[in-house]
Amino acid sequence: MCGIVGYIGNRDVKEVLLNGLSKLEYRGYDSAGIALKTDDEISIFKENGRLDKLAKKVEKINLPSQMGIGHTRWATHGKPSEINAHPHFNKNKTIAVVHNGIIENYLELKNELIKEGYKFITETDTEVLAHLLDKYYEGDAKKTLMDISKVIRGSYAICAMFNDEADTLYCMKKDSPLIIGKGEKDAKENFIASDIPAILEYTKEVYILEDNEIGVLTKKDVTIYDTLGNEKDKPITKVTWTMESAEKGGYEHYMLKEMHEQPHTVRDTLNGRLSNSSDNITFENANLDINEFNKIYIVACGTAFHAGLIGKYLIEKLVRIPIFTDVSSEFRYRDPIIDDKTLVIAISQSGETADTLAAIRLAKERKAKTLGIVNVIGSSIDRECDYTIHTCAGPEIAVASTKAYTAQVICMYLLSVYIAKEKNLMQEDDFNTFKCAMLKLSSQIEEVLAKEDYIKDIVKKYIKAKNVFYIGRGMDYYVAKEGSLKLKEIAYLHSESYQAGELKHGPIALMESATLVVGIVLDEDLIEKTKSNLKEVKARGAKIVVITEEGLDMSDITDDVIYIPKTEWAFTSVLANIPQQMIAYYFATLLGNDVDKPRNLAKSVTVE
Ligand code: G6P
Repeated sequence: MCGIVGYIGNRDVKEVLLNGLSKLEYRGYDSAGIALKTDDEISIFKENGRLDKLAKKVEKINLPSQMGIGHTRWATHGKPSEINAHPHFNKNKTIAVVHNGIIENYLELKNELIKEGYKFITETDTEVLAHLLDKYYEGDAKKTLMDISKVIRGSYAICAMFNDEADTLYCMKKDSPLIIGKGEKDAKENFIASDIPAILEYTKEVYILEDNEIGVLTKKDVTIYDTLGNEKDKPITKVTWTMESAEKGGYEHYMLKEMHEQPHTVRDTLNGRLSNSSDNITFENANLDINEFNKIYIVACGTAFHAGLIGKYLIEKLVRIPIFTDVSSEFRYRDPIIDDKTLVIAISQSGETADTLAAIRLAKERKAKTLGIVNVIGSSIDRECDYTIHTCAGPEIAVASTKAYTAQVICMYLLSVYIAKEKNLMQEDDFNTFKCAMLKLSSQIEEVLAKEDYIKDIVKKYIKAKNVFYIGRGMDYYVAKEGSLKLKEIAYLHSESYQAGELKHGPIALMESATLVVGIVLDEDLIEKTKSNLKEVKARGAKIVVITEEGLDMSDITDDVIYIPKTEWAFTSVLANIPQQMIAYYFATLLGNDVDKPRNLAKSVTVE
């Protein structure tokens, strides 16, 4: 959740750290801090709140430094405050450390350290690390990290500086992402970051650290060791993202930019897997034999879980086998019935979500095969799954997921058609119809995006709504779930998604003039039924907005209809979600919320 940046080199260290942190702020943003190493000491500057407050605080600081570490914090242990912000010092202020993750046995360690005379000034688990580094340090920082890796339990990405080791920066990781950026040839600089955008401006060559690896950086070299101290020969990964793709590109918010990138996202996600001349779907890294399995589970969290529900619906419809779905935090503790004939599909944008990672580890322990649908290449889930399909959405910065969801849903489309073909359940004609429809989705999304002003005007009409229900039947209900989540996340409005037919068993009691109901009316077999449910809520005074397909008459229910272009039944979900994203976005902006960094939420949830 938190963001880490480390730098050693000849640039302005403070600027590199602040700049890198600004690219990571989306990961956690309740406080921030930097530590700068000068010839004889380490200085730490911290602030509660946003990074710009920290930037202001250090504006006039001009220390001759060639090495530093920085951190943006998303509180887990101890409230957001200046004192709890990272970096943390040891008692003599000779070691500074930043940490992402959770030290699970920190209380035990803290009690021991207190008995040994250490004084704690923060409520964080990370302070344990500062004192442990102090306790074990005898002049060899690498050995100290190796030593503490044996006593700490939990997840960590750690970056540390030692006053005695003026020209070396250290890092170590387990279950929390960390990369090392190799400075360009002859540049005499190297970088550490918890995510690529932080250092993309400076280098495109990175080492992706594995668990239990220690990175030792000087200006000239990067050396990586295991926790037994053996040097490792690691390959460099070349990053293909551009700086522009990781920045706002003229849009007011990342979320808006990312929504507008969706036509491109769809093209990229289909690219190489389906084209006009294809007679099947091909996945580059996932040559899985689907006939090996008699059970499929889909696990994920948040928005990614909603993409999984679309997958469930389609695979069941096309292949007629039951698909089990579970949010990862439930799956991992449910004692799920899985074995070597089970395929567990994990969907994750970041590839680092702690519960989803734990879910695939559990699946592997029980001999199931794992397939990751992942956006961040080289992320933990990407690396640990037996097979992966990349979603090709590029970096998604806004906390609320838009283009990554669209790419996940496209992968669900591809996967369900792939499975149907593998099982000989899809005739050539049907395949061709689906193929043409899928290849049109990108331009159809453009058509829906062009309705932005119209959708904004609809939102203005209902801006005073107190409760917002999203309702639908069948696959439309799964779409409704994502619409409702998006609104909650960024507009902070109470919202629920409901199966339209279930309204009369409770929620209809909440229908009154301050209630807005967004009806997703696309499933051809159920249109009349959902319309009847909408009439029932209309009769109770609720306001209605309908998302439906061009050509369908909704005038007996409402004037506020958002039409999406006609497509095959299987693919309405991706188009219907675009207006939902816009509705949430305009509610949030008109209500004055911080769209890209909604309160209490984080982009990458690397704690349980
Ligand atoms: C957080 C994010 C959501 C995301 C979910 C799962 O809650 O705010 O946008 O859908 O985590 O994240 P993942 O990276 O696994 O897709």
